[in-house]
Amino acid sequence: MTPGDLNGRKVAVLYTSVEESLAGIADEKMRETMDLAVSARCVTDGLNASGVAARYFTFGKDVVALADSFRSYGADAVFNLSECPMNCAQKEPHAAALLELLRLPYTGNGPMPLAVCNDKALTKRILASHGIATPGFRLYAGVPRDASGLAFPVIVKPSREDGSAGITEDSIVEDEGGIKTRVEHVIEKYAQEALVEEFIGGREFNVGVLGNGTVADPYRALPPAELVYRNSRWRICSFESKWDPSHPSYAEIAPQCPAEVSDDLRAGLTRLTIECARVFGLCGYSRVDFRTDAKGRLFVLEVNPNPDISPDAGLARAARAGGYSYEALLLEILRLAFARGAR
Ligand SMILES: Nc1ncnc2c1ncn2[C@@H]1O[C@H](COP(=O)(O)OP(=O)(O)O)[C@@H](O)[C@H]1O
Ligand SMILES: [Mg+2]
Repeated sequence: MTPGDLNGRKVAVLYTSVEESLAGIADEKMRETMDLAVSARCVTDGLNASGVAARYFTFGKDVVALADSFRSYGADAVFNLSECPMNCAQKEPHAAALLELLRLPYTGNGPMPLAVCNDKALTKRILASHGIATPGFRLYAGVPRDASGLAFPVIVKPSREDGSAGITEDSIVEDEGGIKTRVEHVIEKYAQEALVEEFIGGREFNVGVLGNGTVADPYRALPPAELVYRNSRWRICSFESKWDPSHPSYAEIAPQCPAEVSDDLRAGLTRLTIECARVFGLCGYSRVDFRTDAKGRLFVLEVNPNPDISPDAGLARAARAGGYSYEALLLEILRLAFARGAR
């Protein structure tokens, strides 16, 4: 689809304001990287630069007013960047469901993968049932009373967060006592189950995927990216390394795309990414996170059905390596939305 095919069509770029959750963060640069309004502006500008009529809309507390504003704008499709409607990450699928009920074509994944993949333990059970390797795990709703039976070290993380929320170097623990302490911490701080996973400490990769899984628009994996750990003192992509430019790990854990990988490893990453897309019925654009173990075997950590799409984020970087400028990526995602139609 070229901008010409989109002639006269209007796109509403929808994002959820994270102002409330950012209120406690003093560092302005950090607030800016986390602010979805910035991504919404980039997407809107990118579409406008390609000659597509686009305007951004905030997903506020009043959904009736939102539906009215789409109607008065005359939106033909929605570029859906909603992550936390009503300031609640668990309501991420509801935004997509609302757009379906309004009969508006929208970009990205539908409510099912958004809901399922938000639950890391459920995602892992589904992956395992399809024979896709994922680290061994236990899920705890309370402080563990028995031995986990897992191989140490393990990582303890909230079961339903993203953006490395709740993940610090302290999340890696070496014994059953450490599991107890961290599980208690996660349950108390995040009010959700704690996921305890075997720690897979080899290389880390993520792979973007485009497509609707249809004959016309089959899944296509983008070139794999590696998260390179330049300083061995860091073992994970923690909250600080992802979001806090003043933290040393921010500069010492750096994405590299395309990743320097053997043909075999590239083929493995591509095949598993497309298998994940099929298993979860992904649509539009997504990203799968991986690590390798000491023997170089690949494990899927999680599937991200709503990855960050700002120009400096991983998906745009992978798309560039795959031959799409930022504007071309946005147009492709929009084309996939129109190809899928109202859902
Ligand atoms: N089982 C694991 N083994 C090794 N590293 C892990 C494991 N789980 C998480 N990590 C590290 O923590 C980071 C964030 O974990 P992830 O499950 O992808 O959560 P998020 O949804 O916050 O991205 C990963 O990018 C990786 O560096
Ligand atoms: Mg991740």
